[in-house]
Amino acid sequence: MLRTDDGQTIKLEDYRATDFVLHSVAMTIRLFEGRADIHTTLELERRKGVDAAAPLVLDGDELTLTGLALNGTPLEGERYDASPQRLEITGLPSDERFTLDIETTLVPENNTKLMGLYRSNGIWCTQCEAEGFRRITYFLDRPDVLARYEVRIEADRSAAPVLLSNGNPAETAVLPDNRHFAVWDDPFDKPSYLFAMVAGDLDSIHEQFTTASGKPVSLGIYTERGRATQAGYAMDALKRSMVWDERRFGREYDLDVFNIVAIADFNMGAMENKGLNVFNHKYVLLDPETATDVDYAGVETVIAHEYFHNWTGNRITCRDWFQLCLKEGLTVYRDQEFSADERSATVQRISSVRRLKAHQFPEDQGPLQHPVRPTEYREINNFYTATVYDKGAELVRMIETILGRDRFRRGMDLYFDRHDGDAATVEDFIACFEAATGEDLSRLALWYGQAGTPTVTVTEDYDAAAGRLTVGFKQTLRQGTAGTGTAPVHIPIRFGLVGPNGQDIDTASVHGANVAGDVIHLTEPEARVVFENLSERPYLSVLRDFSAPVALDHPQSEADRLALARLDPNLFNRWRILNDLVGAALTTASRAPSPEIQAPLTPEIIDAILGSAGDESLEAAFRAQALALPGEAEIARMLAENVDPDTVHAVVEAARRGVGKRGAALFARLHADRETGSQFSPDAESAGSRALASAALGYLAAATGDFGPAADQYAAAGNMTDRLAALTVLVHRFPDTPASTSALDDFYARFKHDGLVIDKWFAIQATIPSPGAVEIVAGLASHAMFSLKNPNRVRALVGTFAAANQLAFHRADGAGYRWVAERLVEIDRLNPQVSARIATTFRSWRSLEPVRRDKASATLRQLLELKDLSTDLRDILGRSLR
Ligand code: PHE
Ligand code: ZN
Repeated sequence: MLRTDDGQTIKLEDYRATDFVLHSVAMTIRLFEGRADIHTTLELERRKGVDAAAPLVLDGDELTLTGLALNGTPLEGERYDASPQRLEITGLPSDERFTLDIETTLVPENNTKLMGLYRSNGIWCTQCEAEGFRRITYFLDRPDVLARYEVRIEADRSAAPVLLSNGNPAETAVLPDNRHFAVWDDPFDKPSYLFAMVAGDLDSIHEQFTTASGKPVSLGIYTERGRATQAGYAMDALKRSMVWDERRFGREYDLDVFNIVAIADFNMGAMENKGLNVFNHKYVLLDPETATDVDYAGVETVIAHEYFHNWTGNRITCRDWFQLCLKEGLTVYRDQEFSADERSATVQRISSVRRLKAHQFPEDQGPLQHPVRPTEYREINNFYTATVYDKGAELVRMIETILGRDRFRRGMDLYFDRHDGDAATVEDFIACFEAATGEDLSRLALWYGQAGTPTVTVTEDYDAAAGRLTVGFKQTLRQGTAGTGTAPVHIPIRFGLVGPNGQDIDTASVHGANVAGDVIHLTEPEARVVFENLSERPYLSVLRDFSAPVALDHPQSEADRLALARLDPNLFNRWRILNDLVGAALTTASRAPSPEIQAPLTPEIIDAILGSAGDESLEAAFRAQALALPGEAEIARMLAENVDPDTVHAVVEAARRGVGKRGAALFARLHADRETGSQFSPDAESAGSRALASAALGYLAAATGDFGPAADQYAAAGNMTDRLAALTVLVHRFPDTPASTSALDDFYARFKHDGLVIDKWFAIQATIPSPGAVEIVAGLASHAMFSLKNPNRVRALVGTFAAANQLAFHRADGAGYRWVAERLVEIDRLNPQVSARIATTFRSWRSLEPVRRDKASATLRQLLELKDLSTDLRDILGRSLR
């Protein structure tokens, strides 16, 4: 058997409330160079009905206890048992409130896990979700223990002129020895994972916001010294988010201040601590010279996401970590809706679906699959997944599709009313929609408990004489590794019948299964829908807007698909159907012997792509999406078995050349027409034009083998978006040419002071589509700008190589696997969350051809044999091999 049994398994079914109720928390945090002293006063009470002899057991993690008192009197040693990970106290009062004073001492400078209290470029900061608070003090560190916090921070005035925590500022004063303190009071009860504290020498920008009901809020964004000028767009996105949540969901902000701090060393994207969001600075700091349009969109999304958590996550939190999707899936749904309203709804939906298919589908179709609400875990950090976040958002979106926008809003209103201040469950959430609308959502609720991607099979039968189209639907879910059941679920299928002129045909005369408006509700294993009174055979457009996270098996003729790709009034489906057609062609070519690789796409398919790309009545961003072929990993997922990444790469390359050659004139025109020299604006329309021109540049280079246009674009670039697009073409298509190396050197020289930009430089080289990329990344790992301690650097080099360089990571001699495995061991000693996350790139090893499959699994097995691996990494390796 594989040795995976070191950690203990936590089960949903074992949930029970704590024996003690927490009423309040008062903390004093004293910061010094090389040390932090924490004094925490807890006001506690034994819960009614709990055995009077039951001890209080508090969580800890690598803690040192320096003091312990009950009601002000130091506790005798025999009354408690303290270890780094646990504090157990006996003989506590049975029916009255009592206070515990707990003192701990830490060394933030040595905290490389970046959980708990740590230092990033001199700034003291905290990260507590999911279980980081127990690395600061002993505590009932679980999301259903809510309390009011008062926090006093003391530090040197020069090292930390800025002292921040949750809630509202209460008091500040100067102390002897050039020290000072600040007190923060958070009037909203919260779980410990939402605690935060920041202290340092920070720059900031400030603005005022007035809520819909007239309440003033002071907004602040704090950065490292000299970088506050890069926070303006984040501030703008924050204000737009605040307005949007008022208009769309009636949710106002609730404190006097809202602060954001940008930190260079951060495990995730950002964190929604009450009133004090802490961000990976990648999602705050921007300017046109250093950030791309994609970066701007990312900042907008993450700022909105964390802000929206104030209601979905903070005011209403989770009862336990199994309910993580209750805050994350819902909040991703909300940030997607925000982006759809702020930008183009169709293009937003396309990018969300691309993301779902690129990250969530492979997870759900491999050994790391789990239900959106898992039933057990060993390490909760490993469940911040695409399934919980992105599939979780899709489940909320399906509730909206089933109920309609207005009734969905009524359910949300009831949820906010009923559960404000609660630690809630998925059942609580769904019950609100049922109570507000009378709809039965039991078949929808099943989605939360079943892992795997259901397949929907669609069949069409047209009877010309009768003018009747009969459509059959069937849902199937294969039992996967997670063994979580395969019951039929509620699948809302948005659809239309498209006439030859590109208009939706009125489908008034419909019978059969459950059809309401433009949605077919598939709630049984199979259903049949009959459309009558048709004067000619329409094109059937199903799963519009990707109304359910399913794999679609709709054997439509190529002619029908090509017609829909041109005509469908639902623009999302125009893209989806074209993308599926291209994906199917590339998958078929990847299975076939080599002669076919020369032309994997038929001229008709290429013309459909070019038709969309050249259609000036469409948004530029949409046209750019039409040009983006499915990626190599996506083709590999569709192949599902016996994948040879070299063949897949050759097929995608051949397709790219084919499109480039046939569209050469169009691409030359699109590239020549691009805007140059004008002022940069990050708005969606300008970004779309740049994306289209860059896509054209890529095809031009693929078709002509001429680096000239890319070199020119690099030299003339007035912003990072154009510069990076040109650099990517040079480095990926013309590696080792003087044009490529001089551009790489120029880029490095320009930006060598800025790690965030150097991440782009690392990532571009990590994704060079050549077997030699293994040696390239190996060389870069000893570059002066690389650091194993900074998660952004590690992700840019190691993570990007493993996730986005199919050719080199899967090199047939196993060198890619070995290099990543060696780095994983090094990273794991410093930061297990980061090593575990990168290790998930091995998850699809079973679908590889036998030689690579054996090499990948041998690498995983050897890793798992090592002693001293973190539980995080061990959990991922063990599950990947199951
Ligand atoms: N809760 C954060 C978010 O999604 C993610 C996060 C999880 C950040 C764990 C840090 C640690 O908004
Ligand atoms: Zn979130």
